[in-house]
Amino acid sequence: MRLIMRQSEKDVAVWTANYIVQRISFFSPVPGEPPSKPFVLGLPTGSTPIEIYQALVGRHNAGLVSFENVTTFNMDEYVGLAPDHPQSYHKFMDDHLFSHVNIAKEHIHILDGCADNLKAECAAYEEAIKKAGGIELFLGGIGEDGHIAFNEPGSSLTSRTRVVALTRETREVNARFFSRVDEVPKQALSVGVGTVMDAREVVIVAAGKRKARAIAACVEGPVTQMCTASCLQMHPNVTVVCDEAAIAELKYGTVQYYLEAEKRCK
Ligand code: GLP
Repeated sequence: MRLIMRQSEKDVAVWTANYIVQRISFFSPVPGEPPSKPFVLGLPTGSTPIEIYQALVGRHNAGLVSFENVTTFNMDEYVGLAPDHPQSYHKFMDDHLFSHVNIAKEHIHILDGCADNLKAECAAYEEAIKKAGGIELFLGGIGEDGHIAFNEPGSSLTSRTRVVALTRETREVNARFFSRVDEVPKQALSVGVGTVMDAREVVIVAAGKRKARAIAACVEGPVTQMCTASCLQMHPNVTVVCDEAAIAELKYGTVQYYLEAEKRCK
């Protein structure tokens, strides 16, 4: 694991956007489906990625990155929210990223939470990821209880894309986007922990004091289904990017180790 510590949420966004731009450019994606080579990028929603998307749009407008040969797969979507619902993740992605960059509609994949057959929708999503050649880089946030995507505590660490029941805690946290907690859907479609683990690289971003407990459990805690992000300790290529507030519950020695490691990697 690599742990990148930056002062503010803005610095986390800048580091992450620059990193993604660099990864896409080193990869040199070429058009079309495999065997030609799109850059397959997994994407999250939530508040933390918003500044990252703004920074990516800025770099796209400055001609520093093209999304022409990028294929995306979003992590999750609420069950029962139509794509044009103001709080759907389809709408979120369109508002914050897709409508501002040169990505083709057919390269965007987001689970359909209104599909007639949700199980078939999830199975088809796993197939589509495979067909695209697997995910090159999965960007993710982290929930206050340590969830990645919508893999709530208790999710199997080998889970695949499926229908999940949201916890009361997650629905309360996400109620800030709705008028009341009762309006937050009780279920979602989510890639599984196993789906994230299959990505060739995972980058997790966290900012703010409310993420400190989850970050400590993810980085230092035991690998447990009660904090699904802790499974990333078993991934060979994972970077966790945090601001100062989000590392508040890490041990002093842990912070010193990763600071030293980052200096040596320069
Ligand atoms: C939701 C999303 C997660 C995201 C989490 C944290 O639960 N399903 O993918 O990581 O929110 O989001 P935020 O960045 O708003 O704290």
